Amino acid sequence: VFAHVVRAPEDPILGVTVAYNKDTSPMKVNLGVGAYRTEEGKPLVLNVVRRAEQMLVNDTSRVKEYLPITGLADFNKRSAELIFGAESPALQENRVTTVQCLSGTGSLRIGAEFLARHYDEHTIYIPQPTWGNHPKVFTLAGLSVKYYRYYDPATRGLDFQGLLDDLAAAPAGAIVLLHACAHNPTGVDPTIDQWEKIRQLMRSKGLLPFFDSAYQGFASGNLDADAQSVRMFVADGGECLVAQSYAKNMGLYGERVGALSIACKDRDVSSKVESQLKLVIRPMYSNPPIHGASIVATILKDRKMYDEWTVELKAMADRIISMRQQLFDTMQARGTPGDWSHIIKQIGMFTFTGLNAEQVSFMTREYHIYMTSDGRISMAGLSSRTVPHLADAMHAAVTR
Ligand code: LMR
Repeated sequence: VFAHVVRAPEDPILGVTVAYNKDTSPMKVNLGVGAYRTEEGKPLVLNVVRRAEQMLVNDTSRVKEYLPITGLADFNKRSAELIFGAESPALQENRVTTVQCLSGTGSLRIGAEFLARHYDEHTIYIPQPTWGNHPKVFTLAGLSVKYYRYYDPATRGLDFQGLLDDLAAAPAGAIVLLHACAHNPTGVDPTIDQWEKIRQLMRSKGLLPFFDSAYQGFASGNLDADAQSVRMFVADGGECLVAQSYAKNMGLYGERVGALSIACKDRDVSSKVESQLKLVIRPMYSNPPIHGASIVATILKDRKMYDEWTVELKAMADRIISMRQQLFDTMQARGTPGDWSHIIKQIGMFTFTGLNAEQVSFMTREYHIYMTSDGRISMAGLSSRTVPHLADAMHAAVTR
């Protein structure tokens, strides 16, 4: 009965890892998926995460009962404080509802399903380009996806005027997806002044912000600085949605830990919204898993562990920044034609190199370097050992 099923293509990001795993060359480097690696090229489990897990294992009072549909209460409270700020008036006014979801993707999907059922405007504007999964998540939830200009290939920076023009032309009430920081795939973020202009424009048109916050702490190494865009939109008293992920900043990738927060006008609305979120979640996966959220809650509620986490997080962010500098310096030393300063100007996990699909496939074929076909490289996958190899490959790709 399934003989007619057509083979689907691999995922444009996760499929890169599938191809990498099949390659037997000792030279191979995976710069596809955004997953942090150490200088030795190994995945990293943070010390503070190991300690939290140990504490959880040792606590014999813990049981494996179902969590509520909305997840672990402590986790939700702390997650909201992390993104909005512990002193946030919106939290004090109880106008925010937060539910535990399956990492960033799950949080986006629950938010989108809620909007499709309970919000009049079904068009969501997403940046051009954006994370490859965004259009699929929103379309399958029943929203209609449109793009706003974001990246200018000529400057390898933000097309700020294009962004403003496109949002100004959007219908009143439309939903707008914003990357809270460390835009994926471009590594290009608006400045605080630009965020303020975006905020004013969106509020004046009644556009609804939906933030994707997958890299809090990874852009600057500072959790508060990386939450500034979101906080500006909450401080003005208006509504917004925020999808949070702990995949990168706590290295909890496979634990699938995240949260969706919806800031509402007041407490009454927020409790009604939460009641409807439960109706979205229950038929999908009933209630979320307990382990990862317990790790996060353990760390966020203990001052010492929290501080330890920020130190480890900063070390990851700093290593990525130093990879940018090393790659840039190596390419300068090679005399690679072109301006490569965007490598050090862009922020977060990725560099949007400007290499085209043909150049990328050349680098994979000849140098065993794996990256997404849009020219994005995960800086977190690089090390001092692999930088010269990557620089050679990029040099060869642009000079052939
Ligand atoms: C990425 O963009 O590489 C990450 O967000 C991982 C993913 O799920 O695509």
